[in-house]
Amino acid sequence: MSSSILKTLDQTEKSSKIQFKSPAKVNLSLIVKDKLDTGYHELSSIMATIDLYDDLRIARASRQGIHLKCSGIHSPADQTNLVYKAANLICQYTEISPGIEITLHKRIPIGAGLGGGSSNAAFTLIGINQLFELGLTNQELMQLASQLGSDVPFFLKGPVALCEGRGEIVTQLSQRCTSSLLLVFPDIHCSTGDVYQNFKHDKQQTQQMTNKVTSCLDAGDLNQLVRLGLNNLETSCFELFNQLTQLKDQLKEFQPNPVCLSGSGSTLFIPYDDKDIAQSWATKIEHELHVKTKVVSFEKQIEPYREVLNANF
Ligand code: C5P
Repeated sequence: MSSSILKTLDQTEKSSKIQFKSPAKVNLSLIVKDKLDTGYHELSSIMATIDLYDDLRIARASRQGIHLKCSGIHSPADQTNLVYKAANLICQYTEISPGIEITLHKRIPIGAGLGGGSSNAAFTLIGINQLFELGLTNQELMQLASQLGSDVPFFLKGPVALCEGRGEIVTQLSQRCTSSLLLVFPDIHCSTGDVYQNFKHDKQQTQQMTNKVTSCLDAGDLNQLVRLGLNNLETSCFELFNQLTQLKDQLKEFQPNPVCLSGSGSTLFIPYDDKDIAQSWATKIEHELHVKTKVVSFEKQIEPYREVLNANF
């Protein structure tokens, strides 16, 4: 089943468990603008989900409260985890206090600009809404999602969307990107807050980038957009992490395609038209540059869970 909902494990009576593949995202473009009075920056970003997933399972529990277990890449199994915060928020909003057991198996690197935590939070909202038959509308879920983080609402409306405001104003796009991406994972944890803090707005650059995004969108060519690697947070991120600048330069010398930064970093991605060619470069890069890689594709479908949500409008 290609859906993000792997399966509802018990469909004979009231569902007791639900399981999701919680996808990562990349920013096909990211244009950050002025700082708003709220302290956040206004932005315009095209985001797309990719087939790199965490596993998220939500189950009814006999013990009251939210019980979170994590495995895979280290992620805190406590109240600081966005999954816990999402579960807590939806329970408070709907004034319920059930027993919920959540298990999270992490594959998406953390502090890597791939939105793994935001994705997990969005799917926790969707899962609890479905499992406990809370009947929240898409609008209500979007509103809760925006309280959890700027990238969380996108995951309710993927697989491809234009995100504006501080990220919470999400417009689904029908265009799809068919390139394969070679992801390069430097062993660097980028704090989103620090990277935004260091950002200096260059209005002329913003305008030039905006014109390029508009022309790619008008031509319906997201493959061209991803090749342009438009991200004006890059300078700020590279100023903070010199090793990342060096790695990007090495990758540009080593292979022929453009090297782009996802979000506030640290993941770099390189688009290729052909997945096998991407894979062969990945093998060479791992061998020669001693850095972890993964070849991924973009998710293409509007997933069934989104149809369920949209039906609530
Ligand atoms: O929304 P989120 O919690 O992911 O944001 C983390 C930090 O990134 C914020 O505290 C803020 O400093 C910065 N940020 C920003 N403008 C945005 C999104 C995030 O300045 N649009």
